[in-house]
Amino acid sequence: MKPGTTKPIVILGIESSCDETSASVCIDGRILSNVTATQKIHETYGGVIPEIASRVHQQNIIPVVDIALKNAKVSKNDIDAVAFTRGPGLLGALLVGTSFAKSFALALDIPIIEVNHMQGHIMAHFIDEPKPAFPFLCLTVSGGHTQIVRVNDYFDMELLGETTDDAAGEAFDKTAKILGLPYPGGPLIDRHAKLGNPAAFSFTEPQIPGLNFSFSGLKTQIMYFVKEQLKQNPHFLSERIDDICASVQQRIVTILLNKVKKASDETGIRQIAIAGGVSANSGLRETLQTWSREHHWDVFIPAFEYCTDNAGMIAITGYYKYLNQDFASQDISPLARMAVTG
Ligand code: KG4
Ligand code: ZN
Repeated sequence: MKPGTTKPIVILGIESSCDETSASVCIDGRILSNVTATQKIHETYGGVIPEIASRVHQQNIIPVVDIALKNAKVSKNDIDAVAFTRGPGLLGALLVGTSFAKSFALALDIPIIEVNHMQGHIMAHFIDEPKPAFPFLCLTVSGGHTQIVRVNDYFDMELLGETTDDAAGEAFDKTAKILGLPYPGGPLIDRHAKLGNPAAFSFTEPQIPGLNFSFSGLKTQIMYFVKEQLKQNPHFLSERIDDICASVQQRIVTILLNKVKKASDETGIRQIAIAGGVSANSGLRETLQTWSREHHWDVFIPAFEYCTDNAGMIAITGYYKYLNQDFASQDISPLARMAVTG
């Protein structure tokens, strides 16, 4: 509720940092709609083409917002503020969401709220119950980031470790490319892995100091392994795809969770959350549950629709910023790079 009134706080959230155009309506901290248009066109190119992403965002943004408002049964005039992803992401893609949010808010004479996309992924934990208490650790794993964040409060986040090269999502996507699977390969590896044996092949774990990660060596290892196997058996990929995917997935998951364990031991924090596109991975979700029993952790895993890029996480972050009256100015511009702490 708005302070001193019985009127609910209505936030429209907009996400356009990469290849998903998404809009969401949040009323008093509850997500009433979360509508995402995924840009399938990038599959043809084996990766996201920034220029195409911007153009498709331009085509999708108005219909996506219309549907989000309809699904939530609210009209434009009910909206109190527009929250949008300022960064990090593809500049041209961010520009579409930012410009839309600014002009929409200007026309309605309401404030705008800037949201850091990586904070948004973490804030997705404040959509559904149970919500974590502060402080908690969040493993944020997406196509562009792999981070362990200590979350002290809604907007007080400390980066404890991050990847020194590829992100975990990139490790999935690049492995998929080596295996001849289309982009984005993460969900496909997940599907094949369900049918395979994770102990069929072994890949080594990189020895990276502290709480940082590295995935580029694993990718090279997989590339040489596949090349060698194909020399002996040209049908290796089609015959063993499930086992390869299960073994690679298992390795990525243990690399991630070994660092989470180290972070938990070092900080004494036993509330562990995961966020970002790779948190949709069933191997990561199941292994985290198993480890939580062994290590006495309380784990927080977002619903699937709030793992990959979505505006629900932007709208909920906007709601908490609205409570702080933390508004942005109309001359704000998007940023391709933004730290999770800022
Ligand atoms: O958070 P996100 O939607 O976008 C970024 O902010 O990057 O994450 C996308 C990444 C992609 O690399 C995609 O392959 C990966 O998340 N991903 C998965 C799964 N679903 C999405 N990786 C493994 N298993 C999945 N089920
Ligand atoms: Zn993301």
